[in-house]
Amino acid sequence: MSKEIVEFLDLGMQPMANAFLKKNQLLKKEQKYKLTICYNKINYMVSIKNTFSSKKMFNNKYPYRSSMSKSVQKSFLYLTDKIKKKFKPKNILEIGSNDGAFIKYFEKKKVVGIEPCANVEVITKRMGFKTYPKFWNDKTSRMILKRHGKFDLIFSANTLSHIRNLNNVFKNIYKVLNDNGILIIEDPSLLECLKRNTYDQFYNEHIYVFSTVSLNNILKNNNLEIYKIENLEIHGGSLRYYIKKKSNNIKLENSFKKQIKKEINFGLTKVSTYFKFKQRVQISKKKLLNLFIRLKKKENKIIGYGATAKSTTILNYCKINSTLIDYFLDTTPDKQNKFTPGTKIKIKKYKNGVSKDVNYVFLGAWNFKKEILKKEKKFIRNGGKFITHTPMPKIL
Ligand code: SAH
Ligand code: TMP
Repeated sequence: MSKEIVEFLDLGMQPMANAFLKKNQLLKKEQKYKLTICYNKINYMVSIKNTFSSKKMFNNKYPYRSSMSKSVQKSFLYLTDKIKKKFKPKNILEIGSNDGAFIKYFEKKKVVGIEPCANVEVITKRMGFKTYPKFWNDKTSRMILKRHGKFDLIFSANTLSHIRNLNNVFKNIYKVLNDNGILIIEDPSLLECLKRNTYDQFYNEHIYVFSTVSLNNILKNNNLEIYKIENLEIHGGSLRYYIKKKSNNIKLENSFKKQIKKEINFGLTKVSTYFKFKQRVQISKKKLLNLFIRLKKKENKIIGYGATAKSTTILNYCKINSTLIDYFLDTTPDKQNKFTPGTKIKIKKYKNGVSKDVNYVFLGAWNFKKEILKKEKKFIRNGGKFITHTPMPKIL
């Protein structure tokens, strides 16, 4: 490993975060990898050390569905409205279009989606949209350019951070983006991750957690640059980056300069910041496990809510298994009746709220806390309580 890369956090042996197990797989040995988090002292990028091949993670069994979350739907509706009014693009390309949660708000003839997981890609195709079950790479971008020409707007949310070779990603984006075209990226924010101690943003699919300072370094290598930033609450604190070609002389906005300042002031460009984060994560682990053990000793019934990929990191790192959590509730059909990776906790279909015999609910989908607490008013009114791990483990 080169000298500029510093390993700062060891999150232990982990299974693939979305490898939910069928009943007949429970006794089989699961494939695991060491989840180590690294910081690059030169370009400030934070990434995981060991990765799986894209084909192994993104295939026709991918369980994540963007449209399952109201918050995601609302956020995309709001953004697409803004895009139509402000940019009036004549054509739009989305990379990582999943089940069409974003592109469905546009006219069918204006949008093209790239989505490698055929099981979710087909949902968008069935709605009548042009989508390709492909990975974004040299070959796909050549094909897109040939068939569709260049684009006024390219959008990619929670996807580019899943692709190892970022220079290749942006080199190809540059080729299919019009000279005055705009690239919009949304991804979890490293600054928010560090502030909220949400170490569960790290798992095999999230190869990177971007910051403005780090992303801009990679973009600049590829003749692109960020000119505007929006802070979003979605996915536990995200950034929306507005990006242009360097040759396009749109002014850099204050929001961009402000975000860079915030990140530098917090210490995102200093190694010591990451070692402090490591210490907070280790304390968080102890506190969460102790809280579970204390509640369980008093014979409380604890369940989980939202079997997220993120919670795979927490459960495996903190060693919380089916002796502490009875089961998880989840609205995603592909996760139901399966078991959580590594920790083997049963996932049940979410029907009409949390059952009366439950005392505590661990928020796996903490990033949808508002939406969930609103939905579960009755459970709370009857004395039910939620547990969260962020910013430090506590009962809500
Ligand atoms: N954009 C959606 C989905 C995010 S999940 C949203 O924000 O809700 C990440 C998506 O990226 C998955 O659907 C996955 O299949 C897709 N993906 C992963 N690697 C990709 C690649 N190389 N090219 C295009 N899409 C990719
Ligand atoms: P995410 O954090 O990766 O977006 O995943 C959210 C998961 O939580 C997904 O599996 C759906 C689940 N979920 C519920 O079960 N109920 C809810 O109300 C919400 C918001 C999410």
